[in-house]
Amino acid sequence: MLRRRTGKDKVPQPDSLVSGSNSEEARLRAEFGDAKVKQLILKPRSKRRNGFIFVLGGLFGIFIALFFANQSEVISLDSLMDLNLESLMDAIPQGIVSDVRQFSQHERATVSYDSFSVGLHLQSQGVQAKHPVVMIPGVISTGLESWGTGENSRQYFRRRLWGSWSMMRALVMDKAEWKNHVMLDRETGLDPPGIKLRAAQGFDATDFFITGYWIWNKILENLATIGYDPTNAFTAAYDWRLSYLNLEVRDKYFTRLKSYIETAVQVQGEKITLASHSMGSQVVLYFFKWVESEEHGKGGKDWVNKHIDSWVNISGCMLGAVKGLTAVLSGEMRDTAQLNAFAVYGLEKFLSKEERAEIFRAMPGISSMLPKGGEAVWGNATWAPDDQPGQTLSFGNLLNFHETNSSWTKRNLTTTESLQYLLDQSEDWYRNQVLGSYSHGVAHTRREVEANEKDPRTWLNPLESRLPYAPDMKIYCFYGVGKPTERSYFYQEETDPLVNLNVSMDTTITNGDGVDRGVLMGEGDGTVNLLSTGYMCAKGWRMKRYNPAGTKIKVFEMPHEPDRFSPRGGPNTGDHVDILGRASLNDLLLRVAGGKGDLIEETFVSNIREYADRVQIFDD
Ligand SMILES: *[C@@H]1O[C@H](CO)[C@@H](O)[C@H](O)[C@H]1NC(C)=O
Ligand SMILES: *[C@@H]1O[C@H](CO)[C@@H](O)[C@H](O)[C@H]1NC(C)=O
Ligand SMILES: *[C@@H]1O[C@H](CO)[C@@H](O)[C@H](O)[C@H]1NC(C)=O
Ligand SMILES: *[C@@H]1O[C@H](CO)[C@@H](O)[C@H](O)[C@H]1NC(C)=O
Ligand SMILES: *[C@@H]1O[C@H](CO)[C@@H](O)[C@H](O)[C@H]1NC(C)=O
Repeated sequence: MLRRRTGKDKVPQPDSLVSGSNSEEARLRAEFGDAKVKQLILKPRSKRRNGFIFVLGGLFGIFIALFFANQSEVISLDSLMDLNLESLMDAIPQGIVSDVRQFSQHERATVSYDSFSVGLHLQSQGVQAKHPVVMIPGVISTGLESWGTGENSRQYFRRRLWGSWSMMRALVMDKAEWKNHVMLDRETGLDPPGIKLRAAQGFDATDFFITGYWIWNKILENLATIGYDPTNAFTAAYDWRLSYLNLEVRDKYFTRLKSYIETAVQVQGEKITLASHSMGSQVVLYFFKWVESEEHGKGGKDWVNKHIDSWVNISGCMLGAVKGLTAVLSGEMRDTAQLNAFAVYGLEKFLSKEERAEIFRAMPGISSMLPKGGEAVWGNATWAPDDQPGQTLSFGNLLNFHETNSSWTKRNLTTTESLQYLLDQSEDWYRNQVLGSYSHGVAHTRREVEANEKDPRTWLNPLESRLPYAPDMKIYCFYGVGKPTERSYFYQEETDPLVNLNVSMDTTITNGDGVDRGVLMGEGDGTVNLLSTGYMCAKGWRMKRYNPAGTKIKVFEMPHEPDRFSPRGGPNTGDHVDILGRASLNDLLLRVAGGKGDLIEETFVSNIREYADRVQIFDD
């Protein structure tokens, strides 16, 4: 974190805009007093700074909202420090750039921790590239570039409208056009007429989100150190806005992935190590089902066993995330609810919650992260598997409604009911997209699992489909734990007639049950709930019906121990995205790719095994 300059006549520095933590706000209030904080919002001291705050508040707020990631570290000013200032200058007015330069000076050193060091260490122990590595990125990390040649698209030709400064600029200059580009056609779930956005390809697609904000870059550095290069490592970037069915329909994504893997196995003479992150893990699961299906990939039942040595699954959100639901329901999540006043102001002015919900719904891929498993996994009206002893408000209800208004009859809703509510109140096109692409239930018997083999909607739900028959494959589940993660919410009827939403988050509720501004926190990696990251690995895939060949599963939980002075949490972070830069994660991934995964010892630090035992799903 940047330390702010002291001095009387100052406005909070911009990193506070994106930092929604309590301590941050408390600190602000302590430092300036309530009245002063209000005054700062209403009557800024300097025009330029006002503009600065507004622009950054807006832009960064958007990133935070759009980014399926944790809040405060996402694009804080701190991470601007590594920026290519030339490209920044394009997008943002002069004055700001010099400010950034100023802030960044002494922080630079702390950012570039550990580059290459993990790889070098392993290299000295004799670990070398062995298995070709295929990386499947997560939802946020892939850049999308415009290939449309229509009149409105020409100016963006081959520019990234997702994941770059061009995105920011397009957003600022012409929001309506930007929205037209990034939203898919509602009915078809494919490109709208005349508009074409495609996933960027190659390592460039995912190494940095925007200049300076690394995603996969540290992993690439370390892989390279033990001998990987573009001939034996590959990023299989995909357009994460599409439903998985449409990934094949439009881009032939799975066909290409299959053929790439087959070629690599043939050329290198070694099976593949797959490394997937976040939503990428669901894509892999879907791919496995697809490739062995008679009607689809036609690879045969033993394709996976013949081609995949190991699957390293990083922060996988196998069972979705509760924030996936609120994102499409009202365009909100904790990140937007608990921003401080400046950023909320900037964000709502710039891209309101209604617009955000509209955009999220028009990206059917996002809806693949709606929570799966219903009440069996996430709890019922009075109880949830991950409730803590002494907890006064159970996690079981995903949406709680405060009873203040007698005309308001809505009940509190469990995960299953919340999902139903979302679908009931949304328009037909959205309901059709979700129901046509995904399934969120549980198959309680082997017969049900078998019956699902032919239903692609169940392929990305590990509770309704089974792993491929791959007795030789190894699955490694690496994920962070110990970072508070949103688990349930307070909602209210939306009374503002100008807002076209039925309900919105009730940020006025902060109470003794642990609710902070409408959000109740549970366990996880800051984005994905522990039940989702951990259940299948700790328990689900140890059941025969979900893992018929007894594929070996190894879990390595990584406690979140952020370095306070590193904007991205440093080498021991367990954060959903930043974990890709974590030293031990890089170390483990390299060992697996180098053929030494067997030596990794299973490590649990959370109580996931106890929670998993309480989940209402049993071996048959
Ligand atoms: C919720 O589930 C728990 C555990 O299975 C059970 O004891 C309890 O009766 C259930 N409550 C309701 C309201 O169904
Ligand atoms: C109660 O809800 C109604 C409509 O749902 C609204 O018109 C009214 O203002 C609300 N009253 C309070 C006290 O919030
Ligand atoms: C929902 O749950 C909250 C917290 O337990 C409770 O205060 C509220 O009365 C419930 N609302 C309804 C409509 O039952
Ligand atoms: C609100 O709910 C009604 C009926 O449940 C539905 O027709 C309408 O589309 C909903 N509005 C929004 C913005 O979802
Ligand atoms: C991937 O890891 C996540 C947790 O990180 C887990 O929930 C999921 O079940 C794993 N999937 C596989 C196939 O290992």
